[in-house]
This record gives sequence, structure tokens and C-alpha cells, in this order.
Amino acid sequence: MNSFKLPGGFLLGTATASLQIEGGDRNNSWYRWAEEGHIKDGTHPVNAVDHWNRVEEDIEIMKKLNNQTYRLSLEWSRIEPVRGKFSKEAIDHYRWEIEKLIEAGIKPLVTLHHFSNPLWLEDNGAWVNHEAVGLFERYVQYVVTYLGDIVSDWITINEPNVYMINSYMFGEWPPGEKSISKFIKGSRNMILAHIKAYKAIHSVREGMNQKDTMVGVANHLRVFDSKKKTPLNNWISNLYDRMFQEIFITGMTEGKLISPLGSGYPLEKGKYYDFFGINYYTRDIVSFKMNAASLFSKREVFEGSAVNDLGWEIYPEGLYRICKKYYERFKVPIFITENGTSDEKDEFRIKYIYDHLYQINKLINDGIEVQRYYHWTLMDNFEWIEGLSSKFGLVSVDPVSYERKVKESGKFYSEVCSEKGVTKEMIKKYL
Ligand code: BGC
Repeated sequence: MNSFKLPGGFLLGTATASLQIEGGDRNNSWYRWAEEGHIKDGTHPVNAVDHWNRVEEDIEIMKKLNNQTYRLSLEWSRIEPVRGKFSKEAIDHYRWEIEKLIEAGIKPLVTLHHFSNPLWLEDNGAWVNHEAVGLFERYVQYVVTYLGDIVSDWITINEPNVYMINSYMFGEWPPGEKSISKFIKGSRNMILAHIKAYKAIHSVREGMNQKDTMVGVANHLRVFDSKKKTPLNNWISNLYDRMFQEIFITGMTEGKLISPLGSGYPLEKGKYYDFFGINYYTRDIVSFKMNAASLFSKREVFEGSAVNDLGWEIYPEGLYRICKKYYERFKVPIFITENGTSDEKDEFRIKYIYDHLYQINKLINDGIEVQRYYHWTLMDNFEWIEGLSSKFGLVSVDPVSYERKVKESGKFYSEVCSEKGVTKEMIKKYL
């Protein structure tokens, strides 16, 4: 095992999402989804981990972890609780939180949509209704007008592909539908909403004379490898790549719709990214299967591969492959906007972090501009339909008292952040 050192300007931090940590909000699509009994372990985002009331305590933890940057998301349903009516109280709360981060020397990266919708939007057909595009744009304008003087870096939408597929293909997330035509409409609207938001953020901040605006999407990207390189297996793994990533990436970067979403440029052709955000977790080994119900495919992991608590393959080389591929295409700084693992016993997270950062160091040495790394996630939290029992955090949270405790992997990551790398001593101590 080798030591390594990342460049001085590289930023390390953690990422979270409002719905997964805040608690207290009953006005969003996931509150209702939990009330309807869809969460596997019966836990509820209305509790989450009480971050809304523990902002200062959690920023103290980030300081302890030597985080230089923090990716947070804003809950649309709090900021616009009723269609067209904005809550000064909610936006003030976020402003206060962001000011505290800045005071602590932690640079904020703010996500405007991370999987959850206000109930009024959900009941209006959510993203499948074309109205969502203009409604999102108005919300973004409101937020950036209030926060644009202190926030330069924005993510418009987190993982549009994961949201659309889980909500409209697999039917596992709200509103629980299985409809290709809704998937197509909703995906198209999310792409248009990203472009409108991209322009709105730039224009509001330009109006404030702010020149350092950075806007992007957090793209969930996986490696799809064929199990055996047969024509049918290759065809199905390419199809996964296209439907899961390519149609979203092409739309969100240059405004182009490709089949099956449409064709051409419904808005202007352009460049709608200042950085390229990558959420990387795993790869799928894909083979063709003669069964329409399973989308003519089987996704699995190679026998003997290391997997996490959710059965996802741990494949650090995939991070290298993905960053290289998209850097060669887009040539803008890459932010790893999420990377982490579900490991209840905190047994393999340290090695996971080491192995993925090692790949990042290699990428940088090969001339690929990776500039930031956000570990998913700061503390154990509400992991969507898995509930609170899937543990991705560097910090554990007691389900009753909400007491936070830095795990061994958190201690390791804290040293990684302060060293901007891994030293020989750290390898001896932790690995
Ligand atoms: C999401 C997070 C989620 C993580 C782990 C990403 O797809 O953006 O919200 O908790 O993966 O599953």
C-alpha cells in the first residue's frame, strides 16, 4: 500500500441531502411515501437525524473532520410550502446555516433538488407535468436572489437518472409508477429545468456582479460491463449506458434531446455546465436475458467480488474509468459530488476511501482535473426506501437521543482531509 498526496488546491469534504438528515418537514413527497408504508424498515424521514435543529453541532463535527467544503441541499417544500408562496423563515434558516459554514472556513456547494418534491408539485403531476420546468425556474430564481451573494457553487439537480428510473420505471419511489411514457416526459422536463436553472443562476449572480459562478449536475454514473463479450450482452450493456446515463448527460450538458427523449434542441444549443459532477458508487455486470419483465437483462456482480451491505460491488477502478471518459469529452473540472459505501459495522469504509482516493490521485497524475471529493456521507441518515438502517456515514447517530459519534473511518477521513492525502503513518495506523 502506497502513501500519496493530493495537490494543495484540492478540496475534500462531505455531502448530504436535506430530506435525508433534517427531519420535521411533512410537506414533501417522501413524507407521504413513508406514511403509506413503503420504507423497508419502517423508519421515517420526518425524524431523519434532526439536523434542522442541530446545524451548529453538525458544523462542529465537519470542523473536527477537517472538511474544507460541504455539499448540502435545500428542501423546496420548506422554501415554497404553497405554490407561489415563499417562506422567508426557511430561506433565512438556510442562509444562517451557510453563513455558519463560511465562518468555519467550509466552502458550500448547494443542491437545489435532491429527490424530494413539495406535495403541491407532486399532486400537480410532479416532473411529468411540463409546468414543473417553469415552477423550478421560479424557485431557483428566488433562492439565488437570497443566497447568490454568499454561494457561488450550485448543483441544479441531483441524479435525474436515478430519480426518474426509481420513480417511473421501477416504481419503487414516489409516485410509484411504471410508465415508459412518463419516464420520457419527466426526463425531458428535468433536462429543460436544468438548462433554465443554469441560465437563471448565472443571470441572477451576474446582476449581483458576482463573477465566480459554478453550476453543474450531480450525475450518478456507473460502469456497465458485459458479463461475457457476446453481441447480445454488449447490446444490452450499451443500452443501459444510453438509457441510464447518455440521454441525461447529452441533454443536460448541451441541451440536445436524443432518442427516446426526443430530437434536436428544444431550447438553445449551448454549454450548460461549468464543472462535471460525478456520484460514483459501483458497477453492474450485465447480460442479456430473454425476459421482458426483467428489461431483457440480468445485472449482477462477478462471483467473489467485494460488495457492500447492499450487495453493490466495490470497484474503485470504475471511478478512474468514468472520470477519464467524461473528462476527455467535456474538459472541465470534475467534482466527485458523492462517493461512499453502506457499511454498518464500519469494517471496510477506511479501505474504500483509501482505494477511491488513490484512483483520484492517479487521475490527477494523468492530467485529469479532478478538483474536489465529497464523501457520501457525513453521518448515518435516511437512506430512501432502505430507511435509517443502511449506514453510509462517517459519524453514527443514536436513533433515540440523536447523539453523534465519529466512527473510526471518520477519524481516518479527518486525517485524510488535513493531510490532503494518506501518509505512511496513517497506513500503519488505519489500514
Ligand atoms: C444519492 C444519495 C444516496 C446515495 C446512496 C445517491 O444515489 O444521491 O441520496 O443516499 O446515493 O445510496
